[in-house]
Amino acid sequence: MGTLTKTVVLLYVTSAVLCTPFVNQLQPGQEWPTRSSVKQPYHELVQNETDTKSDSVATEVEVVAEEEKAPEEPEVPDDNNPKVLAEEVERIDYSGAQVWKVSTKKSSTQRLINQLASEKLIASWGGNHSAIDILVKPNALENVTAALKKKDVAYYVMIEDLQQRINEENPPLDENELELQDRRGHRMTWKQYHRLEDIHGFMDYLAKTYPSIVSVNTIGKSYEGKELKVLRISDGKQGNKAVFIDGGIHAREWISPAVVTYFINQFAENFDVESDDIKNIDWYFLPVVNPDGYEYTHKSDRLWRKNRKYGYGPSTCTGADLNRNFGYRWGGKGASSYPCSDIYRGSGPFSEPESKAISDFFKNTATKFSAYLTYHSYGQYLLYPWGYDNALPPDHKDLQSVGLLIAQAIRKTGGSEYKVGSSSGLLYPAAGGSDDWAKSLGIKYTYTIELSDTGRYGFVLPASYIEPVARENLAGLRALASVVNKLD
Ligand code: ARG
Ligand code: ZN
Repeated sequence: MGTLTKTVVLLYVTSAVLCTPFVNQLQPGQEWPTRSSVKQPYHELVQNETDTKSDSVATEVEVVAEEEKAPEEPEVPDDNNPKVLAEEVERIDYSGAQVWKVSTKKSSTQRLINQLASEKLIASWGGNHSAIDILVKPNALENVTAALKKKDVAYYVMIEDLQQRINEENPPLDENELELQDRRGHRMTWKQYHRLEDIHGFMDYLAKTYPSIVSVNTIGKSYEGKELKVLRISDGKQGNKAVFIDGGIHAREWISPAVVTYFINQFAENFDVESDDIKNIDWYFLPVVNPDGYEYTHKSDRLWRKNRKYGYGPSTCTGADLNRNFGYRWGGKGASSYPCSDIYRGSGPFSEPESKAISDFFKNTATKFSAYLTYHSYGQYLLYPWGYDNALPPDHKDLQSVGLLIAQAIRKTGGSEYKVGSSSGLLYPAAGGSDDWAKSLGIKYTYTIELSDTGRYGFVLPASYIEPVARENLAGLRALASVVNKLD
């Protein structure tokens, strides 16, 4: 073997053994290396990124003995749950199903809605104090119409045929786009909703392409064993702030991972020319918190919300609502103990591998986050804690004013109106949300952002909306970054 060849082989082996700066992919559960050990464009030595964890992080878990049910979000027994093996793809057909916006101005309406839901005639898509969106099953259209008319409840048909909307939501890419896709080194676009594989491939591509600023870390696995990938963008400067952003907690809210990956793309591809506000933050992104559910919505049931953990006790119903499973005031209002419910809280706080992985990540990191943003859809809201009940954190005025700032940036850029308020106040109490838990860790700017729209398409927002929604929300994120930069 020639010397040159030997050197090449040695280099290759060394890099593979030393955990591949080439690929920049960390092992599952492995913490990001302290910055001084990774070559960074800025070479300040980072001190004290060692263990300052433990007691400082107080997760208050208060198990509420008596289960309280959300009046707004009825328990909907799960009949969208065909026991299919992962391989034999059986798609749920929503032909003839409709989505209605129902006025809840009359106080009796909520009870009626709950009743209809318990009879499985309808399913709640969510709502606020004045209206609720409901999915009406095709064979229930007549009965539900009669029931609402009888009680003189106003409603409006938003979606005439849900399956038709589903069919039109995510058209194939045109030839130009397909060609571009082949040349880019990853398959991600913001002209289509993508499968998990494309999203993860995109993240790995960025880590490989920009190893000095981008790295990917698998912080755990989903119930089905899919990776929970967090991508960090950081120039490694000492004194940077840190912001954590996630998406896809709820499987069917496709716009969320699409928007979060848009942010990633913007910052990673243009880092050198980005503003100081962006460069002075260490960004952490987990675009798909619920990969099992996400894939399930692509393959089987477009409107699945929960994760896919199977079989709770004697129940055969699948899945817990990850946004009812976080360990702050777990089990309170607006969360169900009934495994078939769409808002099932799980068997205990952090009983689900996906929420547990996030919790462990925050427990094990020395990074101090200034903001936690979790993207959902839909409704166009900027929600801050508390969600568990009608209560406000001491710094709620800061949360309100910064929320308004974000909303203003969004409106100026794209025209969409986002309402700002506490999630219990603006929507309904719901305990076990990731936002409350993040706030309980002391993360100041904690928001749940309900993306577009306000119900015309609901969860089935056409892919052509990805770019406008993402663009205006990037402006909102910049507004937040500027606030974060001014913190001391
Ligand atoms: N639509 C979200 C949900 O129902 C809102 C969550 C707001 N946060 C909260 N902790 N309730 O999950
Ligand atoms: Zn959601």
